[in-house]
Amino acid sequence: MNTALTIADLKERARRRVPKMFFDYADSGAWTEGTYRANEEDFQKIKLRQRVLVDMTNRSLASTMVGQNVSMPVALAPTGLTGMQHADGEMLAAQAAEEFGVPFTLSTMSICSIEDVASVTKKPFWFQLYVMKDRDFVASLIDRAKAANCSALVLTADLQILGQRHKDLRNGLSTPPKFTPKHIWQMATRPSWCMGMLGTQRRTFRNIAGHAKNVTDLSSLSSWTAEQFDPQLSWKDVEWIKERWGGKLIIKGILDVEDAKMAAKTGADAIVVSNHGGRQLDGAPSSIAVLPEIADAVGDLIEVHIDGGIRSGQDVLKALCLGAKGTYIGRPFLYGLGAGGKQGVTRALEIIRRELDVTLALCGKRDVQDAGPDLLYKPRDRG
Ligand code: FNR
Repeated sequence: MNTALTIADLKERARRRVPKMFFDYADSGAWTEGTYRANEEDFQKIKLRQRVLVDMTNRSLASTMVGQNVSMPVALAPTGLTGMQHADGEMLAAQAAEEFGVPFTLSTMSICSIEDVASVTKKPFWFQLYVMKDRDFVASLIDRAKAANCSALVLTADLQILGQRHKDLRNGLSTPPKFTPKHIWQMATRPSWCMGMLGTQRRTFRNIAGHAKNVTDLSSLSSWTAEQFDPQLSWKDVEWIKERWGGKLIIKGILDVEDAKMAAKTGADAIVVSNHGGRQLDGAPSSIAVLPEIADAVGDLIEVHIDGGIRSGQDVLKALCLGAKGTYIGRPFLYGLGAGGKQGVTRALEIIRRELDVTLALCGKRDVQDAGPDLLYKPRDRG
């Protein structure tokens, strides 16, 4: 794993190790994938200010997210079907995050259940909630997250209906995989992935099992989502969820200043500026493009986090400079997981930590909590 030097290296290894339908599931966005691409590309447009002859000893990346200590302000984003990138993927990623001192967020649509992850971790993890029409079921998910000692609830607000990803439809994505000749071929050429899958019982959605008995493939998942996810979800429901949960609440999927203001009014602890990694509204701006206006509008009222397109520690630093208190990575940890299980996730975090540390130093700062707009290069700085 040590020879993987960048997240792009991990991505290439994952491509070779994970069957195409599951690799593509991670590496895809909605429709034209324009927003997916913009998430990454817009980070490249931001330039940093190099500073020299500054004492760079005793550097610190430690910070907090919703009041919880983190070894660096980077959490693992909730991702569905993570256990299809690698057998027991959610459990392995949670363990890697725990050892690294960063939050792991378990998706409602995970393969391993809340209880599976709790059984292999000692510290609290975070749970991401999708809201379904059946409020008793939603309440039971919240209660299970509480019972598992989860320390934050991440309420995803941008998936009342499912954005279409062409790659998934073309690949005939299904969980567990169907045994069509195409899929058998894709799996047969990935023997280590297959061995892992044969060695685990966890091959289908375990959080929603029981409630979603007939969900086995993409078309049944789409119909189930269309039937069960609540298109009437509104700000009023946030009050109910907040009350039932009673702990730290993070609202994820905010991309507009007006929505950010509404979220701040709910008394939530944080928002995540996010377009779901470009998987929902194609044509929406990148997360980093809207971060400054959102941070300006509500940064004093609520903690602002961001995800989407972060592929390096440099990207993390740029987001912090533009007003984020915390960041999340989705695909980077999935690529690590696909490339090498728990070790691969650890490697993804190590890569990002090293890049963040060196970049901070070369910008003339020693403490990540001092990151601000003064670290960004603007032409007028030339004087
Ligand atoms: C996601 N995302 C997501 N978000 C969420 O709230 N619940 C979920 O179940 C999922 N599932 C999911 C699956 C996959 C394969 C991906 C790539 C993403 C969105 C995720 O939490 C996050 O917003 C993005 O992944 C951030 O963008 P990057 O870091 O992947 O560019």
